[in-house]
Amino acid sequence: MDTVVSGIRSTGTLHLGNYFGAIKNFLKMQTENNCYFFIADYHALTTHPKPEDLHGNIKQVLAEYLACGIDPEIATVFIQSDVPEVSELYLLLNMNAYVGELERTASFKEKIRKQPDNINAGLLTYPVLMAADIIIHKANKVPVGKDQEQHLEMTRRFARRFNMIYDVNYFPEPDAYNFGKQLVKIPGLDGTGKMGKSEGNGVFLADTPQEIRKKVMRAVTDTGPAAQGQEPSEPVKNLFTIMNVVSDPDTVKFFTEKHASCEIRYGDMKKQLAEDIIRVTDPIRSKINDILSDNRYLSRVVSTGAEKARASASKTIREVREIIGYRSF
Ligand code: TYM
Repeated sequence: MDTVVSGIRSTGTLHLGNYFGAIKNFLKMQTENNCYFFIADYHALTTHPKPEDLHGNIKQVLAEYLACGIDPEIATVFIQSDVPEVSELYLLLNMNAYVGELERTASFKEKIRKQPDNINAGLLTYPVLMAADIIIHKANKVPVGKDQEQHLEMTRRFARRFNMIYDVNYFPEPDAYNFGKQLVKIPGLDGTGKMGKSEGNGVFLADTPQEIRKKVMRAVTDTGPAAQGQEPSEPVKNLFTIMNVVSDPDTVKFFTEKHASCEIRYGDMKKQLAEDIIRVTDPIRSKINDILSDNRYLSRVVSTGAEKARASASKTIREVREIIGYRSF
């Protein structure tokens, strides 16, 4: 049995990238493993959300995750800031994390570009907090998308370094996990880059069928293949990547062949793609509002989750303090 930890920042609503990059794998794992799923609401502070928005954002993401099928009766579902032990481990791990390696992290460099007016220390140490989230439960598998690969590599490094410094074999080195061979990167509909929350290129799980059709029909393509067998351009490849995860293999084959023989009509492909996305998201969307309106249920989920997560986290902290050399008087 594996111990699995998965998390999501409480910023914005969930999109197809979150679903196919992380959630779907977590769903497959939750029944047979020791699974922890949490809302990273400390990580969300790196972008300075307004106090009046913070709670609503957490609640929305929690409801959406539950609507996807995460079962709080089986998995431990909790809010990061309800488990203060994680901040203690974060502090302790920070002592062994070097500024140079943190500055070289791709996500930090990207943030410098994206929010030059707010390059805070929380952004720099983001991977340390993420490592604390994972190793505090001594997880060995972490279902994440491709964009988190480097953070997982750093998590392994921090775990290994702790073990080396204190000459123990305490923390396991967790792996980023996907059921397929590769970690997934779901592209956006704008022709470049990955699907993101704030990029304006995403299909959200809460989008209505009309919104999904509109977004997909507007997705960037090209003027069509000029010669038989020509490689699809980047934006068209992106549509095929999304089709690969939502449509059945015959549909993908059909449009791939149409592209290869220069007979493809992108309008037809997009219509099909939109319907296949709707088939995946519709059952989720219909549950989101019901869950959101049931505050007693949500409150029960997070308090039970916090209790279970704290039991596991406090055991780790007790042992880590012992290893580091703290003693009671
Ligand atoms: P976040 O909130 O950016 O994304 C949550 C999960 O969704 C995946 N994801 C994608 N996968 C494929 N294609 C995409 N376009 C795409 N966009 C997002 C992410 O890889 C991630 O798995 N740092 C994490 C939150 C976190 C965490 C953790 C995750 C904090 N602590 C501990 C796992 C374990 C993050 O930014 O997620």
